[in-house]
Parts: sequence; structure tokens; C-alpha cells
Amino acid sequence: MTLQHQADLSKRNTLGVPSWAEHLIDIEQDDQIPGWVGWAQQNELNIRVLGGGSNLLLDNRVDGLVLAMRTQGRQVLGQDDQGRTLWRLAAGENWHEVVRASVEAGLSGLENLALIPGSVGAAPIQNIGAYGVEVGDRLHDVEAYDCRTHQWVRLPAAQCEFGYRDSLFKRWENRYIITAVTLALSTDFQPQLSYGPLQALAHNPNLSASLVMETVIRLRQSKLPSPDVIPNAGSFFKNPQIDDAQFQRLKADWPELVAYPSDDEWKLAAGWLIDQCGLKGQASDAGVGCYREQALVLINPKRAEFLDVVTWQRLVQKAVANRFGIVLEREPRYWGSKGSGQFE
Ligand code: EPU
Repeated sequence: MTLQHQADLSKRNTLGVPSWAEHLIDIEQDDQIPGWVGWAQQNELNIRVLGGGSNLLLDNRVDGLVLAMRTQGRQVLGQDDQGRTLWRLAAGENWHEVVRASVEAGLSGLENLALIPGSVGAAPIQNIGAYGVEVGDRLHDVEAYDCRTHQWVRLPAAQCEFGYRDSLFKRWENRYIITAVTLALSTDFQPQLSYGPLQALAHNPNLSASLVMETVIRLRQSKLPSPDVIPNAGSFFKNPQIDDAQFQRLKADWPELVAYPSDDEWKLAAGWLIDQCGLKGQASDAGVGCYREQALVLINPKRAEFLDVVTWQRLVQKAVANRFGIVLEREPRYWGSKGSGQFE
């Protein structure tokens, strides 16, 4: 629990990029937070919060103070007015272990979100989502320390401004330190099977939250590499959203285009766009490349450094822009040091 200087982050980011943090402290108890935030502010240091490190692109040097959230705790609070079980989880809990424990406890709502790497506290930041469910759909409230007002806050889900891979916490980076999340889960299983490969389960006589979870685990294992085996940060780009006019023009040129209606727009499968550029399974000399089973996942098997990753990111963005006129936006968040510029 001591402050570390020039702390090695290479094993704390799933992309495996070599990186050092100017200062790092492991947070085991929430009451440590105000003191460290005050110290960082007095010394005019950036404050960054590290969870599982699964949605990060780190530069060689990360300036300021990194607070690594390691708090543990699970607590059933009772039921809300709709009869759902309220389950409070400390920020440092592992997301997938929580999903599994909820299903084993007979609760449903998280089964589609199985095997997503990362911590509970990170889940609301980018509103993790998979197979037709987003964490924002299951959230009751988020507790956080507000570094601006120095107060503890509890934000109901409706105030978190959740969107596709987006939330208030992402837009106000460095303001809120999420300390706990309360989920609202159901004892009455209502399957969400709209995603293509899950549809067949609707006719399965043994349909249960557990069966959905095991199916999702198998699907993910077949398409997404485990970061323990091949370093990666999940989807490296967001699925771009375009309006109907642009969609119709693209569809005329590319009848096979993979897209889904999203609000009154269209969401394009970025993995398909990259695949069409012939980049699936390809890699640079540094080993950075697009995974052979899912082109949207950037892999870093040789633990190459930041600039090698950015070089591949740009190569992919350029290929997709040249072929389809679409700009791909990176999903993992960038951490660097003053003067290292923006790498979008
Ligand atoms: N596709 C290809 N080639 C590829 C990859 C995809 O043709 O190399 C096409 C396929 O036709 C496929 C479609 O694209 O049917 C969509 O692919 P997939 O079902 O794998 O989903 P995705 O849109 O690429 C999103 C999330 C994933 C999430 C899955 C399942 C984003 C950026 N990614 O991927 O999230 O697990 O849906 O719901 O929204 C993550 O955020 O890290 C992540 C893995």
C-alpha cells in the first residue's frame, strides 16, 4: 500500500504495452481516496483510475498519479420497487466473477455480459455491452468520489448519461472515481436473445440464465482471444454510426455490407469493414495485427510498444477510410504524459 514511483504498468494493461507510471498507489479501502486525491491536486498531478486495464492504450510514460482500485466487497441491499434484487459491488471486483456469481445465485440480467475482461468499477465508464445488453440496462446507481467538489456522490442510472460505449464518466474523465456499483437483477429470468447466434436458444427446453451464460462464454472464446494468451484490449474500434443517406450510398456499392439499425441511424460492423480491406489475420513486423477470428480485435503478441500499436491503428484507419470513406474511432482510452499529443 505504499506509493510507487516509475511503477511498471506492463502487466497492468491487457494490451501488454510496456509503460511506466510516474506515481502509483493501490487502493484497498475507499477512505484512502480523499487523501491521495488531495496530494495529487496539491502537486498539480493528473489523476487516473486503473481497473483491470482492459480498455487502455498506454504511452511509454504515464504522468501523474495512478490510483489502482483493488477494493473488494459484495452486498445484497434488498429489493427495489420493481422487486429486483439490489446488489452492491466494490469497484475492484472482477466483472466476470460477479457475472458468474449472480447466475449461480439464481439472479439474471448479467448472463449476456459474461467473460468481458475488466473490473466492476470500469464497467459503467464505457457502458460495457455485448450480445444485446449493456451494463447501463442493469444498473441501479453508481457511487463515486467527486474530485472536483471533494464529496462522495451516488448517481442513479438515469443520471449517468449512458450511450453506446459512452457515459458521463467517460466524458468527465478524471472527475469521478467510481467506488461501487449497485446492480438491479431479477429472480424472474427474461432472456435477451436478439443477437443472431443466441436466437436458436429460444427453442431450447433447457433455456436458463446459466445456459445463456455458457453459450456466451463459448461464443466469446471462439472469436476473442484471452488477454492472458494473446495481449489485446477487446474491440479496438467502435462500430461507426452513419445516417440513412450515407448507409444507402454505401449499400449500393457494397450489397454485403453488415449493418444494424440503431436509433434512427445505422451501426456498421467495423470488423467487417476491416476484414474487407484484407487485414484480418495480418500483422506488422512488430507483431501488432488484426486477430484472425475477429478483425476488430487488435492483438499485440510480442508486447510491442505504444508507437507500434499506433502505427497499426493508423494503417487500419487509413485502409477503411480509403475504401469506404468511414472514419474509425478507437475504443480504448489513451493515457500518456504532457506534450505527448493526442493519438486518435
Ligand atoms: N465481421 C466480419 N469479419 C470480422 C469481424 C466481424 O465480417 O473479422 C462481421 C460478421 O458478419 C459479424 C459482424 O461483423 O456478424 C459483427 O461481428 P460480432 O458479432 O463479432 O460483433 P462486433 O460488432 O464486431 C460488438 C462489440 C463486442 C461484443 C460483440 C457482441 C463493439 C465495438 N464491439 O462487436 O464488444 O462482444 O459486439 O455483442 O461494439 C468489446 O467492446 O471489447 C467487445 C468485444
